[in-house]
Amino acid sequence: MKVRKAVIPAAGFGTRFLPATKSQPKEMLPIVDTPTIQYVVKECVDSGITDILMVIGKSKRAIEEHFYRNFELEDELREKGKTDLLAEIESISNLANIHFVWQKELNGLGDAVMYGRSFVGNEPFALLLGDTLLGTNDELGRPVTKQMIEICSEHGESVVALEEVDWDKVERYGIGGGEEVGDGIFKLDQLVEKPSRDDAPSNLAIAGRYVFIPEIFDYLESQTPGKNGEIQLTDAMARMMSDRSIYGLRFDGKRYDIGNKLDFLKTNIEFGLKRPDTGPALAEFINEIANDL
Ligand code: G1P
Repeated sequence: MKVRKAVIPAAGFGTRFLPATKSQPKEMLPIVDTPTIQYVVKECVDSGITDILMVIGKSKRAIEEHFYRNFELEDELREKGKTDLLAEIESISNLANIHFVWQKELNGLGDAVMYGRSFVGNEPFALLLGDTLLGTNDELGRPVTKQMIEICSEHGESVVALEEVDWDKVERYGIGGGEEVGDGIFKLDQLVEKPSRDDAPSNLAIAGRYVFIPEIFDYLESQTPGKNGEIQLTDAMARMMSDRSIYGLRFDGKRYDIGNKLDFLKTNIEFGLKRPDTGPALAEFINEIANDL
């Protein structure tokens, strides 16, 4: 089963990051010098995906511009002989076929995903949240989405990425419960959106990556509002589970939630330290200020 298409919802207000997100998308917040959503697109491309639909909304135009060509900028870089930068800028618009659709009103993740129905058609597809990066320790260097596509191909069923979180944080996430059937692979029998600690079937949180069979749209279409009065994707998945299996992959790696201030700062420091152009000077600076604390 080949997965060629992905949907990236990126319409949310980014209220956890105001005022920065009043007029600019949280998905464009940079990790050092690269917008978060560019990493997400790269994860798609590295997972074999060729066509991407981004579900956007008001104040998200910068995302569209980022993935289209900027001829004036290209001319300027060419004239100045900045060939490396030119090649990098040109490559952004060649990453994949990227399409955009506006979500008419912010009515939950499930509603945003529904906008992908005609784009996806009758194929399996990946769903990646535009404000979340997943780093992986995979020996083969496969992105988490690629690992999930492989599980989907093997079983012909949907797969969701899971991350173990502290028990006092389960109420912030969709939570899955089930039996471990392989190394880090779960066959799920429960999915609950933002449960209380007492109601949570486990501390395995849905981590912003999904691979779905197209049947999910049938369940989304008839989904009634859930938590916060919104159409919740997790609720539609829970209903689909009575007819079809859903697998969970507890991925070996780390989640970076860019829509959250502290994680954003930590991610920038971690990525900045790993880069040869910024790492050594940043490490020196951190040591310097840490001594003053
Ligand atoms: C959404 C999903 C939730 C998932 C989370 C991951 O929630 O509804 O199931 O665990 O993303 O970031 P949100 O963060 O949009 O409230």
